[in-house]
Amino acid sequence: MKTVALRHHKLQVLDRGEGIPLLFVHGFPLDHWMWSAQVDCFSQRCRTIVPDLRGFGKSELPDGPASMEAYADDLYEMLNVLGEKQPVVLIGLSMGGYIGWQFFQKYADRVLAMVACDTRTVADTPAAAAARTALIANIRRDGAKAAADAMLPRLFSPETHLHQPQLVEQTRQVILKTPVNGLVAALEGMRTRPDMTPLLAKIDVPTLVMVGEHDQISPPAEMEQICEQVSDCKWFVVPGAAHLSPLENPNVFNGALSEFLSK
Ligand code: MLT
Repeated sequence: MKTVALRHHKLQVLDRGEGIPLLFVHGFPLDHWMWSAQVDCFSQRCRTIVPDLRGFGKSELPDGPASMEAYADDLYEMLNVLGEKQPVVLIGLSMGGYIGWQFFQKYADRVLAMVACDTRTVADTPAAAAARTALIANIRRDGAKAAADAMLPRLFSPETHLHQPQLVEQTRQVILKTPVNGLVAALEGMRTRPDMTPLLAKIDVPTLVMVGEHDQISPPAEMEQICEQVSDCKWFVVPGAAHLSPLENPNVFNGALSEFLSK
């Protein structure tokens, strides 16, 4: 991991390989670790850049709101500090996808292609926002364990819970290490994120939309509609997976990503 000093805070970033830059953006409440199988596969032929977002992993959390736009601004600044001037393939999962839409909106000239995994474009409904407020209170009271308990049952498919319990446990350990302030800031940022659906018609780079077949947080039917609104979009469903498709079924996920990249 490298320490990348931005103007107001420092990020920890895994930066491995050479070639076309692939920027992997993790979901909530995880860190760069969730992309390990993709780094192993793609760093042989690409530059894989995998940050811990502000307040996650060992990255610092500066003052101010952790809006999806603020995370995107961090990524832009990080790429500049790393000296990466080529447009990137931006691969974002869930909250990483929310950040990806913001990044495209502000920095489209720095995007070669988009990969939206298990994510959404709509804003929180009042009920979803209220659930985040309740989770924030639980995390403030019980720590990161409250986030693990709330999220883990929904992150993985029944198959994964049954056949890969060690993966579920590893994920729990990553969540338990996440600082409370980082979790709260991200939940506040997601709770107030804007509806990005109108952006889809403006995306003019090749796009891949991928989703686990059992994803309940960003359901396949909703993600298929996202793909239909992007002019040059490929659609792929990851079998046996739920919300963490790159972790649950990495071979199939990597195969689909590899085919997209080769085109
Ligand atoms: C994520 O995986 O990043 C979260 O499930 C996103 C969300 O809670 O909206």
